Amino acid sequence: MSTKDKILNSLKENLNNWISGEVLSNQLDVSRAAISKQINNLKKDGYTIESSTKKGYKLVKLSEFLLVNEIKENLKTNIFGQNNIFYYNNIDSTNNQAKLLASKGEPEGTIIVAEKQTTGKGRKGRSWISTSSDNIYISLILRPKLSPADSPIITLMTAVAIAEALLELSDLDIKIKWPNDILINKKKIAGILTEISTDMDYIDYIIVGLGLNVNSQISDFPDKLKEIATSLFVETKQSFSRSQVLKTFLYKFEKYYSLFKNKEFNKILSRWKELSNVMNKEVKVELFDKTIQGKVIDIDKKGALIVKDHENNIHDIFSGDVILL
Ligand code: BTN
Repeated sequence: MSTKDKILNSLKENLNNWISGEVLSNQLDVSRAAISKQINNLKKDGYTIESSTKKGYKLVKLSEFLLVNEIKENLKTNIFGQNNIFYYNNIDSTNNQAKLLASKGEPEGTIIVAEKQTTGKGRKGRSWISTSSDNIYISLILRPKLSPADSPIITLMTAVAIAEALLELSDLDIKIKWPNDILINKKKIAGILTEISTDMDYIDYIIVGLGLNVNSQISDFPDKLKEIATSLFVETKQSFSRSQVLKTFLYKFEKYYSLFKNKEFNKILSRWKELSNVMNKEVKVELFDKTIQGKVIDIDKKGALIVKDHENNIHDIFSGDVILL
């Protein structure tokens, strides 16, 4: 552990209490000058630390940044976030960066986080506005040894993992709208962008990108999103620690990902159905070439939404926009 991390641990153990430079220096067996240098570095990382020549140092507030050391602290996963975490203050898109890293051999479990994105991407070439560092923008690298045909389940299991994480963190009524929207009170709080690289009949890598609105206020949203988007803060009037939210998500993600790797798709799909707001509902589905109207009767093992239209025709839908009627 670095001197900086050791000092941070001592400060955290004494949160809101003074700890003298001398005690720190003796405890960690480093010079007072080295302590002072690392305290300055911690301040640059966003920790609010008071300094007094007589009393020493006092940590009064944790950093608001999504720092690697905060993500790793008490992270209860085995793979995701345990090794490489790439952290960027500002990047074009964490999904693009993840693809670049994966194509150079970065292993499964690596995560890429950013405070902001300049060209955050949504589904179907849409953009994901990522100008506020109050939210989570993350991409995960996956290398499952399964057929590309199983990959649509990844988006569904990610949606379940997000919903489960949000349910653990709040009392909110979380719903999944097929395939990749997480809603609260009919407003979108999170979206998933899954990108896949295949080589003939095996998966090279999958990138799962998640945009999750955490501490944004309504006034932070652009006008066109004010009526349709929400955040944890907007819904609960409370601020959340982004690293805590992220860790809860990673834990749930890994749990459902191991079901996926064991091909236990039924367990994923039955939880998805419980959390979905489209099951047995009348919907309009906009496909790239036509629109279908009917009732959602199921979701199958391939991740397709099964819609029965008014002439009793059954449609298996893999990609489209669902509008609840
Ligand atoms: C959607 O709902 O259309 C999907 C939105 C996905 C946004 C996330 S933010 C992190 C990752 N990087 C991107 O460029 N997009 C995803």
